[in-house]
Amino acid sequence: MVISVASEKGGAGKTTIAFQLAVLFAQQGKEVLMVDADPQGSAAEVAAVRAEENHHPEITCVALTGKGLANEVRKLIPKYEIIVIDAGGRDSAALRSALLVTEKVLVPVLPGQLDAWTLETMDDLIDQALGFNPQLKGCLVLNKVDTHPAVRMADAVAEFAADLPHLKLLRSRLGYRMAFRRSIAEGLAVNEGRPRDSKAIAEVESLFSEVCNA
Ligand SMILES: Nc1ncnc2c1ncn2[C@@H]1O[C@H](COP(=O)(O)OP(=O)(O)OP(=O)(O)O)[C@@H](O)[C@H]1O
Ligand SMILES: [Mg+2]
Repeated sequence: MVISVASEKGGAGKTTIAFQLAVLFAQQGKEVLMVDADPQGSAAEVAAVRAEENHHPEITCVALTGKGLANEVRKLIPKYEIIVIDAGGRDSAALRSALLVTEKVLVPVLPGQLDAWTLETMDDLIDQALGFNPQLKGCLVLNKVDTHPAVRMADAVAEFAADLPHLKLLRSRLGYRMAFRRSIAEGLAVNEGRPRDSKAIAEVESLFSEVCNA
């Protein structure tokens, strides 16, 4: 299965979420490959830290960019059970190409109206890709949600997303939590990091199972 984590907006949490999912699949004993499709190279850096620190399970990561990405990924599909693509916003040729070989595209979005408005472009990209890849499914996940219950910025996204034909808003959300920043800096998923943040772990596990069943 090929999963892409994509958004045109910088800083929405693509690399963070792609890495969490890759590690959780690997923890289940799956053969996992991460593809860093962002010229910025953050996913490859996290994988390198993980390898240097000798954390297990290992996560293999390759960097692929440009419109040839789909062809390269097709060659890798027989070798891996799960391929997670960090489809950064800076290389739109790579993003379009990734959508041709993806089964599920997960789009992280920050809570707020300005962020919601950017989702139309992603929905259009999915619409175009569906002509070549009819199995493609799009999911939205709210990230960095304010953990104070009185702050309801996420509602703007939920309302806007209801009118996007190709992006289904997942129930799982990730809160704005230091544990996500701290663990990834050490090459660890949040369920491997210390001190344990049980809320962050529960959020990621819920997201993982929703993505698996989407
Ligand atoms: N749920 C969260 N809580 C707290 N910090 C987060 C959360 N998700 C991501 N971050 C932090 O926000 C920043 C941006 O996240 P990340 O790099 O994953 O986004 P991105 O979409 O890959 O960004 P880019 O567009 O630059 O590739 C990072 O410093 C990351 O540690
Ligand atoms: Mg990134």
